Amino acid sequence: MAEGGDFDVCLQTYEYIYRRDLLKGKVAFITGGGSGIGFRIAEIFMRHQCSVVIASRNLEKVKAAAAKLEKATGGKCLALPMDVRKADQILAAVDAALSHFNRIDILVNNAAGNFLCPAGKLSFNAFKTVMEIDAHGSFNCSKAVFDKYMKDHGGSIVNITATLHHRGVALQTHAGSAKAAIDAMTRHLAVEWGQYGIRINCVAPGPIDDTEGMRRLGGAKLKKMTGSYERLIREIPVGRIGTKEDIANGCLYLVSPAGSFVTGTNLIVDGGNWLTQNITAMLGKL
Ligand code: COA
Ligand code: NAP
Repeated sequence: MAEGGDFDVCLQTYEYIYRRDLLKGKVAFITGGGSGIGFRIAEIFMRHQCSVVIASRNLEKVKAAAAKLEKATGGKCLALPMDVRKADQILAAVDAALSHFNRIDILVNNAAGNFLCPAGKLSFNAFKTVMEIDAHGSFNCSKAVFDKYMKDHGGSIVNITATLHHRGVALQTHAGSAKAAIDAMTRHLAVEWGQYGIRINCVAPGPIDDTEGMRRLGGAKLKKMTGSYERLIREIPVGRIGTKEDIANGCLYLVSPAGSFVTGTNLIVDGGNWLTQNITAMLGKL
């Protein structure tokens, strides 16, 4: 597992695309915001004057991340302990966020668990664990925030998914199944909750450099296999690997007024990777 508190650093420079006060007065709740992509989403939102809650199992990690985020952005970040599989912990964290900031305008369901494993070797509990963190966790947090705040005030939810299930990828039956469930849930909730002023969308990252996800899904090994990492990059239509900032900017668009007529959709931020990459063959060799 990434040592997010020590590992992740804020950007030295950030080029503003939207105006700096885009999210002024808003509050975002980001699951798994202490590391990787979630950390960068928190940072970019804070750079746009959003206050942020980051919540995950490892309190020390989210606390260290919150301190770094506040220092780099001058914004406010509250760190909370929470396992997205545990309803009592989620309800307590949402209550704590509301008593601290009085509102939750944005929820980013980013927390996930993954590893490479052939379907035949997955234990029953391994499949269940990933389904529970990714799919159940996204529903659990959405429901808690809906019940306690958004059904009366509206809001925007972004679910971080993936493209694994669009083609079917070796060694990823558990994660692809969970992300497919999240894609479907996004459309269902968009239909049901539009009437409450809530928009719900997905962002599906491609391979993102300098992340635990990329390291776990073969990135570290591909780097050691002569030519493989270069091939991975060559086959991405835009010709580069993704950055955490790419994903954060996609989320920023969706939660901003620029995305106000967008709901139930899946924004794939992968440089066209899933259209061309034969990841199945590459992973199959690992
Ligand atoms: N290959 C196969 N099975 C694995 C595995 C692996 N690499 N890692 C864990 N499992 C199995 C375990 O053996 C266990 O099954 P069992 O009880 O039948 O033995 C089951 O998955 C649950 O593992 P456990 O370690 O108890 O789960 P956890 O809730 O403590 O942690 C994980 C969840 C396994 C997803 C852990 O890797 C994690 O916390 N990941 C978070 C970070 C992450 O994955 N980041 C990338 C996001 S893309
Ligand atoms: P990461 O740094 O490991 O982020 C995952 C976060 O989720 C961690 O901070 C972890 O913190 C938290 N988490 C895990 N289980 C949890 C639980 N049960 N309850 C609460 N929090 C939990 O990995 P990442 O690569 O940035 O991935 C972020 C998201 O992007 C995931 O949804 C992933 O599927 C998606 N994605 C990533 C890539 C990529 O290339 N990296 C590609 C496609 C999709 P704790 O350990 O403290 O709980």
